[in-house]
Amino acid sequence: MKKNDNYELLLQQAQSLFSGEYDLIANCSNLVALLFSGIEKVSYAGFYRYSQQELVLGPFQGPVACMHISLGTGVCGVAAQTQQTQIVPNVHEFAGHIACDAQTNSEIVLPIVFKEKLWGVLDLDSPELNNFDEIDARYLKKFLAITFH
Ligand code: SME
Repeated sequence: MKKNDNYELLLQQAQSLFSGEYDLIANCSNLVALLFSGIEKVSYAGFYRYSQQELVLGPFQGPVACMHISLGTGVCGVAAQTQQTQIVPNVHEFAGHIACDAQTNSEIVLPIVFKEKLWGVLDLDSPELNNFDEIDARYLKKFLAITFH
């Protein structure tokens, strides 16, 4: 199935899961379950929450992950600090990348600003090089909009 078509199907599921549900831990947990099982070649999908000037591990699917990340460090820390989506085709070429899982080769991280404050980031990893692009960024942003409401 084409990437767009798959995302459209997943978005419909997300809409019905999260409309009327406002508990962020519940929504974030189900979102990463949906993305992890629904997107090909994803080895990790998870949230980091911004708390006390750093990122702290939130709901995720995949192998055991780093629990604290400083702002500006690694892909997640840069996404949080700059509040800009990071698409990294090869994590081994990203200065300061934090290798929680040696199998990861590419990654996408979106910052989450909720109620005008930095809430955290959404991080997806892949064992494939160059697995994420602007299509992923565009759809993941839509998932975040219906998860955080
Ligand atoms: N790779 C991330 C760290 C988090 S793990 O991938 C779960 C980074 O460099 O920000």
